This record gives sequence, C-alpha cells and structure tokens, in this order.
Amino acid sequence: MQIILFGAPGVGKGTQAKILSKKYKIQHISTGDILRDSIKKETEFGLMAKQLMDKGDLVPDNLIGDLVKEFLKSIDYKKGFILDGFPRTLEQCNLLDNIFAELQIENPHFIILESDTDLIVHRLTARRQCTNCNTIISLNHVKDISTCPSCCAIDTFVKREDDDEDVVRKRLEIYRKTTYPVIDYYRDKYNFIFLNAAEPVDKVTQNIIERLN
Ligand code: AP5
Repeated sequence: MQIILFGAPGVGKGTQAKILSKKYKIQHISTGDILRDSIKKETEFGLMAKQLMDKGDLVPDNLIGDLVKEFLKSIDYKKGFILDGFPRTLEQCNLLDNIFAELQIENPHFIILESDTDLIVHRLTARRQCTNCNTIISLNHVKDISTCPSCCAIDTFVKREDDDEDVVRKRLEIYRKTTYPVIDYYRDKYNFIFLNAAEPVDKVTQNIIERLN
C-alpha cells in the first residue's frame, strides 16, 4: 500500500497517517516530523530549517527531496509507505517523479483531505504534540495532557511554534499559492481520492479505508 496523503496544514494528515501506518503496518514518512527531529538533535540542517519553519516558510526543495529519497531508500518501500507533507511545490513534484522512477514506484494512492480555513485555525491553535513520540492530540477533545497516552511520558506535550494563529494563516496562504497547484500537476497521472476532513477522526479513517478497498 503506497499512499501520498495531501492537504492543507491542520487538515489531519498526521493524525490519519499514524492510524493507517499501524493498520497497514507500513512506514509513515512525515517530512515535518523528520525536520522536527533534526531540530531536536540540533544538527546544522535542523537549525537552518527551524528558522524557516517557525515563520511558516517552506524549507528549500532540493534539501527536502534528498531527505525523502534517503528515507525511502532506507525502508522496505515496496511493502508500502505513507508520504505526508511531500510534495508541496511543483519543483517537489519533479523531484518525486524522479525518485519514483528510480525506485520503480508506480500508481500510489493519492488521498486529498479537504477542510475550510476556520476549522483548520480552530484545530491548529488547539494542537499539542508529544516531544517524545510525536503523538498528536487536541485540546478541543482532551483536557488532561499531563501524560502521553501513547508513550506514557510526563509533561511532554508542547504547542508547535508554527501553530500560533498568525503563522497558521501564513502557512495556509502558502498552501493556497504554492502547494495547491500540485493537484493540477498530478490530475492526469493519478486517480485522486477526495475526502471531507471535517468529519470526526474515526469517520475520516473509515472513509479512507473504504475508498482504498
Ligand atoms: P508539517 O509538519 O508537514 O505541517 P503541515 O503540512 O503544515 O501539517 P500539520 O502537521 O500542521 O497538520 P496535519 O494535516 O498533519 O494535521 P494534524 O493531524 O496534526 O510541516 C511543518 C513545516 O515543515 C512546514 O511549514 C515547512 O516549513 C516544513 N516542511 C515540511 N514538509 C516540507 C516540504 N515538503 N517542503 C518544504 N518545507 C516543508 O491535525 C491537526 C489537529 O487537528 C490536531 O490537534 C488533531 O488532533 C486535530 N484533528 C485531526 N483530525 C481531526 C478530526 N477529523 N476532527 C477533529 N480534530 C482533528
């Protein structure tokens, strides 16, 4: 099962990718999570990426392309994967085409999650992420965040710097101008699965699974 999970910031890509990765036992490749790991390790690349990410800007295409290629090569990609957060520019589409050609990956499922701006802002300003295991939760649904339900770490939930409302709105603007055209680029190449991301998490998962079947 090879999946590209696409959609605006906060639409629920990470949440769904984590569920699907467990269900299908395939690797979740989140470019955002990989970048945040580099930041945590304080690598030179991570420190450079942090400057851009905190402001809501994109990291340079070639660097992200290399990162995705290396990651795919390091896993059993034939068995499957969920790509979350890439491609998000037309240049990244070119890079992905080259990576897929080299690795002989054909016809991945292309899932597009859709939601409106107000809901996204409401979700992202309430999002918290575990710094230990990357579990995502929402203060809209969970009030006690002292213990991570996945890894049991204490007091590890933090708000991402780029989840402040002004940065969220800037990320949405970049999505509309720079990332949305990716859909047109792939329109004739892949069959898209469009899904309403405004429904509850379980319902969105159920809809994805039904459509994949
Ligand atoms: P990245 O981490 O990829 O962020 P994003 O694409 O902006 O998406 P998010 O992680 O914000 O949202 P999501 O769709 O995963 O939603 P989530 O499931 O968390 O990228 C961050 C930055 O890294 C970029 O801005 C850029 O700087 C850089 N970067 C990354 N990839 C790059 C690339 N390819 N090129 C260049 N730069 C790159 O859900 C959000 C909240 O909603 C959570 O609290 C969740 O609990 C809740 N929620 C989810 N689903 C539901 C539901 N159905 N109902 C109710 N609540 C829900």
